[in-house]
Amino acid sequence: MATTVFTVDPTAINGEFIQRAAGVLLSGGLVAFPTETVYGLGANALDALAVRRIFAAKERPAYDPLIVHLVDVADLGRVARDIPPLVSDMAAHFWPGPLTLVLPRGADVPLEVTAGGETVAVRVPAHPVAQALICAAGVPIAAPSANRFGRLSPTCAADVLADLDGRIEVLLDGGPTVVGVESTVLSLVGEPVILRPGGVSREALEAILGPLTVSERSVLPAEDLLESPGLLLQHYAPQAPLVLYIGTPSAMRAAYLSEALRYQQSQTLVGLLVADEDLPFLAGQDLLVETVGSAEDLETVARRLFSALRALDAAGAEVILARDFGVTGLGLAIRDRLTRAAGGRVVEVPALEDVR
Ligand code: TXA
Ligand code: MG
Repeated sequence: MATTVFTVDPTAINGEFIQRAAGVLLSGGLVAFPTETVYGLGANALDALAVRRIFAAKERPAYDPLIVHLVDVADLGRVARDIPPLVSDMAAHFWPGPLTLVLPRGADVPLEVTAGGETVAVRVPAHPVAQALICAAGVPIAAPSANRFGRLSPTCAADVLADLDGRIEVLLDGGPTVVGVESTVLSLVGEPVILRPGGVSREALEAILGPLTVSERSVLPAEDLLESPGLLLQHYAPQAPLVLYIGTPSAMRAAYLSEALRYQQSQTLVGLLVADEDLPFLAGQDLLVETVGSAEDLETVARRLFSALRALDAAGAEVILARDFGVTGLGLAIRDRLTRAAGGRVVEVPALEDVR
């Protein structure tokens, strides 16, 4: 099957392309589309056969449940039941936007979507192309990130094609995504708990909900990392093995730079994922370097994170050394993604005499 690509300007949406894509969804097909976080791989969430095709196209194991996308919180009753009163508060603050809520599953949602479970993950995306598509289809849209299982989430149309060309009917190209990391997944079944840090910060949620726990399967406390090398962590791309350095800026720099020079001496092509502030310390070294922006500007870091990792892979890096960006705000989601990419290879560098 050839994948048809429609280029859709988010500020002047081509209604004909949206109608054609919605028609594909309603006839059981797969459509990749931009959301504000990453590109999603969509199917009609109420069509079990269509949903199964998502798992096949992604080569995703059936035990990993999907997020259902709605155009408005008013549609929540179509996919969830026993909706806690808290939800209207959360929706008012964060929808449309990068927050996914886990709720009791509505009877019409096939078990294929929820991996057999009695809960369903739901969000209302903020991207105009996503909204137009879901609205035109008139059904809830199940959509995981539009990558093959085990790879990085796609933040532009080319990333989607790299993984899924020929496996999906349509790709709506709406340009690069804005947030760059996936949505925050918050369970509201029982005590609220963050299952996956993402585009809505822990602090923003805690301002409304009070102190929240972050699931251990997500970001482990740094002390535990070396003792549990990736046991619970899903390893995913980049293709090159990645090592994450956590510590003060100067301690991280000293550690990854000496390691990079060691690799260089043994003729191994090493790629560095750094911040703008690190660049002066790398000047004059003949190293493969990608910066994701200023460490003070985590929105930019999150937006550029996955494409920077893909760029290092594309440049042939045999190993990637990445710096950390702390756990404040979007830092927590960035830490989570880098920790997973590292598959537990995390080095906590003791503080040096730090000057900054
Ligand atoms: O930003 C995003 O969330 C993107 C865009 C496309 O919306 N989607 C995305 O989907 O990242 P995916 O499938 O790559 O990640 C969904 C996450 C997985 O970690 C999955 O285990 C979790 O949400 N999830 C889905 N349904 C769940 C449920 N019922 N209970 C607990 N976790 C669930
Ligand atoms: Mg994913």
